[in-house]
Amino acid sequence: MGKMSYFIRGLPILLILINQYHSADVPSVVTKLGSITGETKSVTFQGNEYQVDRYLGIPYAKPPTGDLRFQPPQPFGPFSETYNAIDFGASCPQPSYPFLPVERKTDEDCLFLNIYVPRQKPDEPSGHAIMFFIHGGGFSIGSSNIFDGAVLSSEGNVIVVTINYRLGLLGFLDIDNEKASGNFGLLDQHLALQWVNANIGAFGGDKDRVTIFGESAGSMSVAMQMLYPSNKGLFRNGITQSGALGLPGIYLENNINTAKFFAENMSCNIETVDEVFNCLKEASHENIIQVILDTMQSGGMSSAAIVGVTPTIDGKFIRKNPANMIKKADTDSCEEIDFFRSIKLINGVNGNEGGLFLIMLGNSETLEDLEITREQMNTQVVPGTMAMMYGNKPVPELLKQLIISEYTDWENPDDPKRLREQLVELFGDIYCNVPCIEMSRFHSNASNVDSYVYHFLPKVEKPLLPLPKWVKYANHGDEVGPVFGYNFDPQVLFNISEYTPPAWELDLSRRMMKYWTNFAKTGDPNKPDSEMLAWPKYDVNSQSYFVFDREDSIGQYLYARATEFWTKIVPAVIDATEHAQTVTEQFGKKDEQTCDKDGNCG
Ligand SMILES: *[C@@H]1O[C@H](CO)[C@@H](O)[C@H](O)[C@H]1NC(C)=O
Ligand SMILES: *[C@@H]1O[C@H](CO)[C@@H](O)[C@H](O)[C@H]1NC(C)=O
Ligand SMILES: *[C@@H]1O[C@H](CO)[C@@H](O)[C@H](O)[C@H]1NC(C)=O
Repeated sequence: MGKMSYFIRGLPILLILINQYHSADVPSVVTKLGSITGETKSVTFQGNEYQVDRYLGIPYAKPPTGDLRFQPPQPFGPFSETYNAIDFGASCPQPSYPFLPVERKTDEDCLFLNIYVPRQKPDEPSGHAIMFFIHGGGFSIGSSNIFDGAVLSSEGNVIVVTINYRLGLLGFLDIDNEKASGNFGLLDQHLALQWVNANIGAFGGDKDRVTIFGESAGSMSVAMQMLYPSNKGLFRNGITQSGALGLPGIYLENNINTAKFFAENMSCNIETVDEVFNCLKEASHENIIQVILDTMQSGGMSSAAIVGVTPTIDGKFIRKNPANMIKKADTDSCEEIDFFRSIKLINGVNGNEGGLFLIMLGNSETLEDLEITREQMNTQVVPGTMAMMYGNKPVPELLKQLIISEYTDWENPDDPKRLREQLVELFGDIYCNVPCIEMSRFHSNASNVDSYVYHFLPKVEKPLLPLPKWVKYANHGDEVGPVFGYNFDPQVLFNISEYTPPAWELDLSRRMMKYWTNFAKTGDPNKPDSEMLAWPKYDVNSQSYFVFDREDSIGQYLYARATEFWTKIVPAVIDATEHAQTVTEQFGKKDEQTCDKDGNCG
């Protein structure tokens, strides 16, 4: 009797011990592919301590090496024994730049994903909502490994998945045939989404509530995945942070010319496409990266374009030029566009996106004193951007004058300190703001769509990229820290051992994580937790958007003038001058024949 009551009283203690044993020890799941073990970590955010189960470096595809180089990814398949997922996998081959945060352990065998699972009970019986992150870096650098999902996952009570995908030449070589048909990096992302769909249930995830989000090229990737109907059922929400579809000049039919440049630099024969292909197929990934480093060494950041290899219109993943698709989509309807609009979207940009391009003009010290003269603006900056946008096509002088005029502060037209700000604005509008607004207008211009827009304004204490003091608002990439609860290795990012952001940034971060994870759970950033400022839907009429700042607010007509200028006025001027050109060509000849050289016409 006495023994029994001791035993019974002891049971809860034993149960607690067993429970603790589990939580302190190795978390493990049984997936269809086999067992995976991870590690439990504690993280703290604003005084709240959480336990998160991490599963790192899970291979979702066979190593894309040897015969699989330049081929669509193959599923990794089942594990032969329990997979011990406690270390990050390698990042994909890429050059490293001193001013950019890059994971240095790289290898061609790089198709891994990482999973962060909160210990709290899910918000719905169906399991945790999932946030699937695609990193940025111009499709040529970056890694999932530097974005630690532990705080976002536990503070927001969602599962966070981060992935690697192939980059640069190894990710996007397109020689217009089956030997290398391009967009492998995008297909990697798609395969990782299929992996999540098939296996995330074992981690406690709800595969019907997947949100994909990304920044910069990761954001463009999100938008491209939203245009790929084979993704139907794999995710239902998207968040695009500073990267849209309609970027000028990125979508080529193939990248044979860039491939030739690489092959030639590796001293290969480049007469036929087959020779180029064989050369690149045999080259070591180190040699491929070396070509990029050498080219940048001799030409600086601006030579990045020469060696840049990005998504192409391959006819399969991307069937039509997305930039054109969203321009004339107001009347057309097709499978891609219907799928795009069926996905709920949060889309946004930062206050001074153009700050990104300053790294081409100097380093953190010299940029403080940067001055742009009127002469430089007129003869270099504007013609240079026009060349980037329109390639080698002759650009009408009238258009150049119009752009110069639009980006001049007429109260202070020649002030080199105002001109440097105008340069940042010009670059920001062309590469981010206008394509972004265009995308949201396109997305929201139909019935039954859920579309949201934000503007992230404040300058953070530690920007991701070198940024001079005279830039007033947030630069490209500066919202990523707040979205991840500032959970990153400051050594990798800022070359310092410890970093605590100011209190207002942490508050901002908490609010952003709430909106982001609300959206992942319900498709509405205001639900289920609605004690914050209400974020109105975006539509082409009200154009309402959310402003993230020290104090959040709601705005209207974000970049409406710049969007009107670049999407209506500039094309109209090009049309008109081309028309005028044709008229002159048709009638000019006759004038020449009948007029003498003094201009007296008969
Ligand atoms: C490769 O490019 C670098 C930098 O432009 C140059 O120094 C080198 O000579 C080139 N090599 C070949 C074989 O073309
Ligand atoms: C929205 O779509 C209508 C036609 O469906 C079109 O006339 C209008 O220009 C579009 N608006 C925008 C801002 O794209
Ligand atoms: C990192 O900081 C150390 C010490 O301050 C410095 O010597 C080193 O050059 C820095 N490294 C980089 C890549 O900036």
